[in-house]
Amino acid sequence: MNLTSREISEKYNRFARWYDWVEGIPDLLGVRKLRGRLLRRASGKVLEVAVGTGKNLRYYPQDCRIIAVDVSREMLNVARKRATKLSMDVSFSLTDAEALAFAHDSFDTVVSSLATCTFPNPVVALQEMARVCRTDGKILLLEHGRSDREWFGRLQDRRADRHAKQLGCHWNREPLEIVREAGLTVVAAWRTFLGIFHLIQAKP
Ligand SMILES: C[S@@+](CC[C@H](N)C(=O)[O-])C[C@H]1O[C@@H](n2cnc3c(N)ncnc32)[C@H](O)[C@@H]1O
Repeated sequence: MNLTSREISEKYNRFARWYDWVEGIPDLLGVRKLRGRLLRRASGKVLEVAVGTGKNLRYYPQDCRIIAVDVSREMLNVARKRATKLSMDVSFSLTDAEALAFAHDSFDTVVSSLATCTFPNPVVALQEMARVCRTDGKILLLEHGRSDREWFGRLQDRRADRHAKQLGCHWNREPLEIVREAGLTVVAAWRTFLGIFHLIQAKP
């Protein structure tokens, strides 16, 4: 079952105050390190899509100029406070990943983390990221999906509908397949944690 962007926005508006606590667990287990590994590749003018509460912000190289979007007003409010605490000048906007209000080729780097699992149409969202990214730019993704250990993948399959209903997160999607289906070229890809988490660098 796919939720609409509006339903996802409402869900994350309610979840915003708890998100950092809940995500604290995967962060402690190593996701924090993956964020660091991904974001040090960012450069120039950056668009972060589905920024959530801004958990990636602290990992950007200092010279990045960042615009960040999300479909949830409350998640953006938390991200805004985080940017202020970090003394970072980030421009935030309430925008749907599947209809980005930016011109073609306008960013050096486009970033998204833990979000293709929630987009109603992840292929469309990735095509939008590719459209606004310069042809020689970078699309940096940290994603989670179906484990490549069959026993664990089957477990995810069994609970996928219930999980999607609760959190709007489809945890048995295949991020690499979605990236390729969107027509992006994978430059580098690496997976870890039972093959669940992916670091992907792609280009339009
Ligand atoms: C699991 S959170 C990830 C947040 C953040 N990127 C992180 O790494 O912690 C998913 C985020 O995607 C956002 N989102 C879901 N669908 C979206 C869409 N169509 N457009 C923009 N943001 C969306 C949600 O509001 C939420 O903030």
